[in-house]
Amino acid sequence: MAHCQESLSVTGKTRRLKKANSSGKHLLSLINDVLDVAKIQAGMMQLFVENGADLAPEIKTVADTIRPAFNGKDVQFFEDVDASLPKLSVDRRRVRQILLNLLSNAVKFTQKGSVTLSVKGREQDVLMAVIDTGPGIGSADQNLIFEPFKQTDTGLRQGSGTGLGLYISRQLAEAHGGKLWVESEVGQGTAFYLSLPFKKGDTENHTSEKASAA
Ligand SMILES: Nc1ncnc2c1ncn2[C@@H]1O[C@H](COP(=O)(O)OP(=O)(O)O)[C@@H](O)[C@H]1O
Ligand SMILES: [Mg+2]
Repeated sequence: MAHCQESLSVTGKTRRLKKANSSGKHLLSLINDVLDVAKIQAGMMQLFVENGADLAPEIKTVADTIRPAFNGKDVQFFEDVDASLPKLSVDRRRVRQILLNLLSNAVKFTQKGSVTLSVKGREQDVLMAVIDTGPGIGSADQNLIFEPFKQTDTGLRQGSGTGLGLYISRQLAEAHGGKLWVESEVGQGTAFYLSLPFKKGDTENHTSEKASAA
């Protein structure tokens, strides 16, 4: 009996610790978002760009981070990532942040079907996409969602969220000289695209890698 009470209280403590831990993480991410918005609006957002960064480990980290969010959901997670990705001059942490924002939205809003993370090297850029089979976003809302604090009715009903993630993500994409946009139809799902262009040195790397592979 004593043993039983003890193990119950350990379970209870574990549950409380887990809850405290996840509340802490949630608060930290809220604070970070608010700080990012303040930095952007003060013109103080600084990128730490690494020349010729290897994207592959970043994509793997992002996929590993989001995968547990699919547990217990009737939604499959697909990865469609080029086996060999060209090097790109980016702030790796910020690229991770954009992809995690897009993927966490996709998991949050999709109840059935799939979420796909796709990453492709092209001539001028690396094109990343997060495609889901969720509720979709009406054309009237497709500009609004990139404004700070703006959410669609679906987003508001969902109850969690602040409407900051896409605003920050687009600003970060543009700070890289890139683009972030959405293509969607209500009831058909949503695709967010992130295009990050090659800088001069990257293109040289890119073509010389291609040339040496040929
Ligand atoms: N994959 C998606 N499917 C449907 N709606 C989406 C999706 N991603 C974003 N949205 C809409 O865009 C809004 C803004 O997204 P975001 O800026 O990340 O804020 P948050 O996630 O805090 O609500 C969401 O509240 C939701 O209305
Ligand atoms: Mg979000």
